[in-house]
Amino acid sequence: DESKAGVKGLLDSGLTKIPKIFVNEHRKLEKNHAPAAAESFEIPIIDLKGIAEDESLRREVIGKVQVASENWGFFQVVNHGIPVSTLDGMIDGIRRFHEQDAEVKKEIYSRDYSSRKVLYYSNFDLYQGPVTNWGDTLWCFMAPSPPDPQELPVVCRDIIIEYSNKVMELGQVLLQLLSESLGLDPNYLRDIGCAKGLCLSGNYYPACPEPDLTLGVSSHTDIGFFTVLLQDQLGGLQVLYQNQWIDVTPIHGALVVNLADLIQFITNDRFISVHHRVLAKAVGPRISMACFFRTHLPTESTTVYGPIKELLSDENPPIYREATVKDFVSHHYSNGLNGVSPREHFK
Ligand code: SIN
Ligand code: FE2
Repeated sequence: DESKAGVKGLLDSGLTKIPKIFVNEHRKLEKNHAPAAAESFEIPIIDLKGIAEDESLRREVIGKVQVASENWGFFQVVNHGIPVSTLDGMIDGIRRFHEQDAEVKKEIYSRDYSSRKVLYYSNFDLYQGPVTNWGDTLWCFMAPSPPDPQELPVVCRDIIIEYSNKVMELGQVLLQLLSESLGLDPNYLRDIGCAKGLCLSGNYYPACPEPDLTLGVSSHTDIGFFTVLLQDQLGGLQVLYQNQWIDVTPIHGALVVNLADLIQFITNDRFISVHHRVLAKAVGPRISMACFFRTHLPTESTTVYGPIKELLSDENPPIYREATVKDFVSHHYSNGLNGVSPREHFK
């Protein structure tokens, strides 16, 4: 029952050493495997201002999205249409949720994604994954069938609804850009269902007394089509680029976009889903909101995907066989974080 107070509850109990379960052997491996970048790389920053009105600007942006998607799998967007006040309000809302009384949070503590749409937990893969991470999460399935507003925590209900509506709109814009940067009809990816489902993950990473021994989130790739991430100013998110860990520098007002496993799968490896992780920090909390665009309840989805036919040719034959979303993600969930990408099973 104590675990229901989350990592925050542990910290609040006054501990000065992290419990053994959090010590991340993989972190040492990761460190040896991929050093911090020697040069100062930055993931691409793409300005979306004016793309709805100005066709030549739009073409330019599509080119940038293509380069970023093929080489990085990550980019930041600015002037994306969501007001900074909404972004700040969302960060505050996540903070309010996690900083309320543990008794209140316990009421929605669960790891059972199938029976509820709004849940709070620490370490979704606690029982499958090889390591435990230094962070707590508020999780909400918002689309295609949103929860009854009453199910959303009252301390952040309004801002969750406002933010998820706005992120859903931005998601449509991003999907058009991604479609066009693949040379497809602007509505192609939307029409095959790439932004039907939206899940929110409101993350809270408390200060950590031994930050070098653990991670906020272990190295992983995201599972759905793409993710829109809002982070506060503390930093800690890193992406793997040319086998080095690159910091994703927080930019106030920007959103981070990262491509996920299903988009790499349907683009036949043209767009990439890259490993990323979150460092634990001596100072905190760090707060982020990850919005996952994917199918609703992927563990039950029988929709079949495979490499997009229009992208294939004699020179570019399919790398993967078709699979239902359910099959695809089963490989992900059975490994937990640090697992092999499910794509490998469909080659
Ligand atoms: C994640 O990738 O799962 C979380 C990212 C973050 O908190 O910055
Ligand atoms: Fe992620």
